[in-house]
Amino acid sequence: MNVLVTGGAGYIGSHALVALIEANYDVVVLDNLINGSAEAVMRVEKITQRKIPFYEGDIRDSNFLNSIFKNHDIDVVVHFAGLKSVGNSVKNPIEYFDFNVNGTISLVKGMELAGIYRLVFSSSATVYGDSSIMPLHEDLPTGEPKNPYGRSKLIIEQMLQDLAKSNSRWSIGLLRYFNPVGAHESGLIGESPQGTPNNLLPYVAQVAVRRLPKLAIFGNDYDTIDGTGIRDYIHVMDLVEGHVKAIKKLEKSGGLKIWNLGTGKGYSVLEMVDAFESVSGRNIPYYFQHRREGDVAVCWADVSLAEIELGWRAKRDLLDMVGDTWRWQIQNPEGYR
Ligand code: NAD
Ligand code: UD1
Repeated sequence: MNVLVTGGAGYIGSHALVALIEANYDVVVLDNLINGSAEAVMRVEKITQRKIPFYEGDIRDSNFLNSIFKNHDIDVVVHFAGLKSVGNSVKNPIEYFDFNVNGTISLVKGMELAGIYRLVFSSSATVYGDSSIMPLHEDLPTGEPKNPYGRSKLIIEQMLQDLAKSNSRWSIGLLRYFNPVGAHESGLIGESPQGTPNNLLPYVAQVAVRRLPKLAIFGNDYDTIDGTGIRDYIHVMDLVEGHVKAIKKLEKSGGLKIWNLGTGKGYSVLEMVDAFESVSGRNIPYYFQHRREGDVAVCWADVSLAEIELGWRAKRDLLDMVGDTWRWQIQNPEGYR
């Protein structure tokens, strides 16, 4: 089975390559390297001892896509390629709709032309909006995402639902990620953010290696155990193993399915900081700032559907998440650069 991995040189995509190869899939990578690194793919080759065909280019380029589909007999596409910074999406909304929405339109058109109808898409818990119901179950209605990034994910979900309804040959999995963190246990691949990280754990990791002086904690007045925000952090290797299970499920069933990928357990910002300090043995200086606009107080997943339908559940715990992040950070203080 041949899997095309769009965005395979990025954070989650590179980890997915490892899981797919370990599950005996042949992978082909497509990435325009706007936020990815060819080095990540080379390191996956080192981990897996496999040569990986890599195509540098853009999913919005239909000639480029068609040439890949001609060169390789692709059975399924796992679609990670897109832009993901919430802050940048507010500054450059059209760019986000172009990369994410137009990119996906171009991809599914290319797939149809090539007669490929199996797709796994990286969605996000952000599509639930500011729900007061926890945990978040796939049956809940989607909410109103607070930024163009979130809206682009919701639009893509709705578009793919219409597509699946229009033609029964399609078999599509929408995977709603909660908060992916961590790195491959080898410490060879991990998250390598460009510029100052926006997400909590990469920020904390850079404070720990003294690339950044102090963590700002956004709000300590939420109605939570210690006043700080609670999230469902999931180890990236658990997350990508969920993709392998989703592909296997889609091989047997058609239509469109939605699965949450989280752990079902939430941790506060202060709990994450504490865990990082004990694993790394480093002090993480922090201060409290006002709440970040668009943040919700709590967010965690109901993971029962993925457990029942995919036979998947996250295996790694908080210490694995933090320990693997720390190993990656200490071995690669500048990321891939
Ligand atoms: P990432 O930026 O590390 O990876 C995305 C990759 O796609 C990058 O390597 C980038 O160069 C590539 N890319 C972007 N636009 C492209 C285009 N038009 N053509 C070809 N390649 C392109 O991000 P990630 O964290 O690995 O996220 C992967 C996917 O998962 C994204 O769609 C993201 O929105 C989604 N997601 C991520 C998170 C998270 O916390 N990381 C949470 C929810 C959803
Ligand atoms: C953010 C995005 C979400 C996206 C996800 C993964 C927002 C509002 N949401 O989710 O759309 O899908 O990343 O890319 O940006 N925190 C701090 N200090 C920091 C960074 C974070 O206190 O420097 C806190 C946040 O307030 C939050 C928690 O840490 O309570 C996690 O934040 P983050 O890692 O950015 O993830 P989300 O906000 O859940």
